[in-house]
Amino acid sequence: MTTFAETTATAPCDSLRRSATQVLLGNWTGAATVPSRALYPHQWSWDSAFIALGLRHVSPRRAQRELETLLSAQWGDGRIPHIVFNPAVPDGAYFPGPDFWRSATAGRAAGASPFIQTSGIVQPPVHALAAWLVHAADPAESRRRGFLPRVYPRLAAWHRYLGGARDLGGGGLASVVHPWEPGLDNSPCWDAALARIEPAPPGSFVRADLRHGSAADRPTDLDYARYVRLATTYRDHGYDDARTPHAFAVEDPSFNALLIASEYALADIADAIGADAGPHRRRAEAATAALIGRLWDPVDAIFHARDLVTGAAIAGHSVSGLIPLVVPGLPATIGKALARTLHGPRFGLGRVHLVPSYDLTAPEFDGNRYWRGPSWFNTAWLVHRGLAAQGEEEAAGLLREQFLTSAHRSEFAEYLEPYTGDARGILRFSWTAALALDLLHAPVAQDAAR
Ligand code: DGY
Repeated sequence: MTTFAETTATAPCDSLRRSATQVLLGNWTGAATVPSRALYPHQWSWDSAFIALGLRHVSPRRAQRELETLLSAQWGDGRIPHIVFNPAVPDGAYFPGPDFWRSATAGRAAGASPFIQTSGIVQPPVHALAAWLVHAADPAESRRRGFLPRVYPRLAAWHRYLGGARDLGGGGLASVVHPWEPGLDNSPCWDAALARIEPAPPGSFVRADLRHGSAADRPTDLDYARYVRLATTYRDHGYDDARTPHAFAVEDPSFNALLIASEYALADIADAIGADAGPHRRRAEAATAALIGRLWDPVDAIFHARDLVTGAAIAGHSVSGLIPLVVPGLPATIGKALARTLHGPRFGLGRVHLVPSYDLTAPEFDGNRYWRGPSWFNTAWLVHRGLAAQGEEEAAGLLREQFLTSAHRSEFAEYLEPYTGDARGILRFSWTAALALDLLHAPVAQDAAR
């Protein structure tokens, strides 16, 4: 098997760099990058943030454009929608499409654009972190284009939305109101909460995703019926967080950890443009205390999501609970405990491929089905970054090596079966290629530590 043990420009590195770049160029639409031409033919929010992290090594200007295109679809209430629809893509190519979300009408009171069609839910807030790292790739070009002063007010409004209307639990954390929002759609962590939801009638919608991949790798029809019900209820209440009777409301560790890392990045951006960084640092510190106070489980040595409908912690062990490794200033005792959990039987670092999305020892684990077990490249990148920040260089190096080898071998798969490393989902997936480019660029996440 080809390996990438050396960080120097070896032949495999050159070939990986070339093919990763080709994936990104092939998925570029002129203003943004689709995650995949077939399965995801529009712009996705957290995908674009990860894509920008790789594009910055190819064209910092294009990386800026990627984020600016996404931000141009921001709603008046500050939310960044999880999908920005491309009007050139035929209806029916993706479900649920613009006709389902009806953002321009149903989202009018929340400030959705009358011209740009979007979904009405959100995805994890990686954007300010991405914007700061994109700027750092070429500060002169960034300054020449006025990139930071233009994105800062929009990113600040995005964080205000999450810290305000989305603090449904009142404890200083942002909540997600649909399983698509934390990005871990069909994680077993959501099973109990989803079981409360009355599914939409089976004949009331047609899935487009099954045309592009194996049904065994995707969420089930019953999952989809519940996703549709939740999104319909939110839409029919004008995407108003206070008015919607949220049957699914969860505080997710990864979503909040990324918000904190991005809040620190906003502080860096504020410093760079002469704005007041103090409120951002104070908010990040307060959210870190809330994350630890509400979601840290010292016995299980992992962060657990909290179900706001029952008020109880969700017992499942998900990769989401390890991602707080990226939180700057996380107490070292917690960082060390998370590193031990990562090496333990539930996540098996070094004994399986990358980091499984769910507990290998749990009966619900399924190594093929989307977020019920497969290893994903974006979470591996985040865990790598967190390990590097925590001074766990050996583990971070191992994960980087595995990432590059697997990305190459799998043709930039969407996700992997953790035991075999075989590709699952679709190939030539944009964030896999982008994050490979990022890891090729730097031996370890040197900018991760604070
Ligand atoms: C999908 O379409 O599978 C996404 O995960 C929802 O954004």
